[in-house]
Amino acid sequence: MKKIKIAVLPGDGIGPEVTWQAIKALDAVGDRFGHYFEYCFADVGAIAIDKTGSPLPDLTLEACMNADAVLFGAIGDPKYDNDPNAKVRPEQGLLALRKGLGLYANIRPVTTYSNLLHLSPLKENKVKDVDLVIYRELTGGIYFGEKGRAADDSSAFDTCLYKRDEIERISHLAFQHARQRRNKVTLVDKANVLENSRLWRHVVTELHTKEYSDVELDYMFVDNAAMQLIQWPKQFDVVLTGNMFGDILSDEASVIAGSMGLLPSASIGLHTSMFEPIHGSYPQAAGSDIANPMAAILSAAMLLDSLELFEEAKVIREAVTDLLEKGIGTPELSPRITYGTTQIGDTIAHMIAEPDFVIKEDQVNEGTSTII
Ligand code: IPM
Ligand code: MG
Repeated sequence: MKKIKIAVLPGDGIGPEVTWQAIKALDAVGDRFGHYFEYCFADVGAIAIDKTGSPLPDLTLEACMNADAVLFGAIGDPKYDNDPNAKVRPEQGLLALRKGLGLYANIRPVTTYSNLLHLSPLKENKVKDVDLVIYRELTGGIYFGEKGRAADDSSAFDTCLYKRDEIERISHLAFQHARQRRNKVTLVDKANVLENSRLWRHVVTELHTKEYSDVELDYMFVDNAAMQLIQWPKQFDVVLTGNMFGDILSDEASVIAGSMGLLPSASIGLHTSMFEPIHGSYPQAAGSDIANPMAAILSAAMLLDSLELFEEAKVIREAVTDLLEKGIGTPELSPRITYGTTQIGDTIAHMIAEPDFVIKEDQVNEGTSTII
């Protein structure tokens, strides 16, 4: 029996409703395996600005620091996106959280499900069996370098600075993860142009020679990597890259699977680790019970992995896969049987808590079904 303290930051838009389904999945894991999850809810993003004026109130950061893990929903609101002069923005909350928790590695696995290949914009033979993971550096580079703008708006600059130790710590994680997978790391950079990329190559090569020579290491320029991800994504195992390239490539890679609603992520570093679906706040869908909660639920599985509760995590993943294989999902998947956000969450929770649970399809009325 484990007591696990989780800081829950539901955030904006569909964030609260998908996060709620992830909590149900965790509680079901608790029932089945005898763990106790204690949740501490806190605000971040637009909702936090509305309530306190700050996108990351001190109390929220404190709650995260005091927890074993952070479960994050989504942030963002059109009222800020459409206002270029807004002084505070929800996104600042996320960046401050990353910095505050020292979350230097963002880990985004991209896998595909055999019966959803047709949803991918790529041809089925290219996406079948894709299994890659992106290690994106998350607290350095151009996102956090010195920046400035001339008073007369005639120029502006952003600096991309990387220190050796920032490169080393994420590279260790990437190499170690590769050893548990297909043993290959691809370092993505722009070393033909940028000095900081040349430092990445130098440091990663050195680390490879010293400690990880059993892992295959190759290098790819980011422009080529953007193309290769579309042309033959199966060639990638672990992709290691800096903050900005990782931001762009991870969004590109996310469409391979066919739905953003299926992909989880983890951010780990110096303090508490954080787990979040890769999709955004999707404000148009908020409150409509149509958002896919699977990415949030799979993020809860990554959370359990990080606490070394591997069997528990596996049970969550199996429930999601099982549901997808039965052709059950939220509307964007155009499934055989359409469920709403809450129904998916309830069903997955049942499947986790009761191993013998059977979905009675004959009792399922498309769109409005209840499952038991
Ligand atoms: C992401 C997002 C963020 C980023 C934004 C919301 C600041 O795009 O998590 O990838 O650019 O890192
Ligand atoms: Mg992004």
